[in-house]
Amino acid sequence: MRGSYLRRRVLVTGGAGFLGSHLCERLLRDGCDVLCVDNFFTGTKDNIADLISDPHFELLRHDVTFPLYVEADEIYNLACPASPIHYQFDPVQTTKTSVHGAINMLGLAKRTKAKIFQASTSEVYGDPEVHPQREDYWGHVNPTGLRACYDEGKRCAETLFFDYFRQHRLQIKVARIFNTFGPRMHPNDGRVVSNFIVQALKGEDITLYGDGSQTRSFCYVDDLVEGAIRLMATGQDFTGPVNLGNPNEFTIRELAETVLQLTGSRSRLKRCPLPSDDPRQRQPDITLAREKLGWEPRVPLREGLTLTIAYFDKLLSGGDGG
Ligand SMILES: NC(=O)c1ccc[n+]([C@@H]2O[C@H](COP(=O)([O-])OP(=O)(O)OC[C@H]3O[C@@H](n4cnc5c(N)ncnc54)[C@H](O)[C@@H]3O)[C@@H](O)[C@H]2O)c1
Repeated sequence: MRGSYLRRRVLVTGGAGFLGSHLCERLLRDGCDVLCVDNFFTGTKDNIADLISDPHFELLRHDVTFPLYVEADEIYNLACPASPIHYQFDPVQTTKTSVHGAINMLGLAKRTKAKIFQASTSEVYGDPEVHPQREDYWGHVNPTGLRACYDEGKRCAETLFFDYFRQHRLQIKVARIFNTFGPRMHPNDGRVVSNFIVQALKGEDITLYGDGSQTRSFCYVDDLVEGAIRLMATGQDFTGPVNLGNPNEFTIRELAETVLQLTGSRSRLKRCPLPSDDPRQRQPDITLAREKLGWEPRVPLREGLTLTIAYFDKLLSGGDGG
């Protein structure tokens, strides 16, 4: 019997993306056989370049809107563009990725009896009327707006997960991920952390939408991956949804000022109009994650930012970012 026979076979869709590549890395470290599936819409081969030579890592170019027939013990479904610039580029494909992707991966989980994790999002809460958001809040989402392809696609994916759970007794694990940052974020995806860092490193104006008083919470990628792994390891009775994110709130202005300080940049803050449907505030209540997963973020914002700045610094100066 080969040693690999005993390894957990884990499928990661969207595995060449920002979160997916960190998750693949962690799963390999934990001794799993990892199959990374990606269509490279926003993910890159560079993100997983260090993993390719690992005999327990496999890469498959595939679009999750089409059925997939492989064997797996666990499935992490992360495939979906995550930043407004990318998910609004082809909104119909975004909805298809969330909805058809969920149907295809749930079908695969049903056939292989695999546990399946869904990377849902705080966007299912829309522009929330309650703060912080708990999992039992149903959300405040505009179904016809520019963000709907993402928000409603993810909401429908959650619906599918829970119907497969009720109808077919699938072992589902739904995480609602809040703003996460770290090395391998896309440099031009318009997300606030990467935007500010790239602008600061290039000495360009830092674009502050509105007056910068809107707040966000930022979770470092290693913390998020730890939460996802813990969620997957929970017993059959726990399905989520569970919030994974950092409850420490910062205003966007504070974030900009911290980035300026850590990069030593001379960039100036420039105010721009707020985009449509931009939430004023978003902050996770992570009581459930604390209770069920024994999880909470450990990496302070400044430490995470320092690591992320080092990555972008290398990337912009022509290296692969490490
Ligand atoms: N990063 C965050 O802050 C955050 C917050 C909430 C939720 N999420 C969710 O986590 C997941 C990963 O996000 P990310 O930040 O790593 O984004 P990302 O864009 O870096 O990763 C998404 C990956 O999915 C791939 N992909 C997209 N459409 C696909 C398709 N049809 N078939 C196969 N692969 C496809 C992309 O090429 C990319 O590699 C997404 O589902 C996202 O909605 C992320």
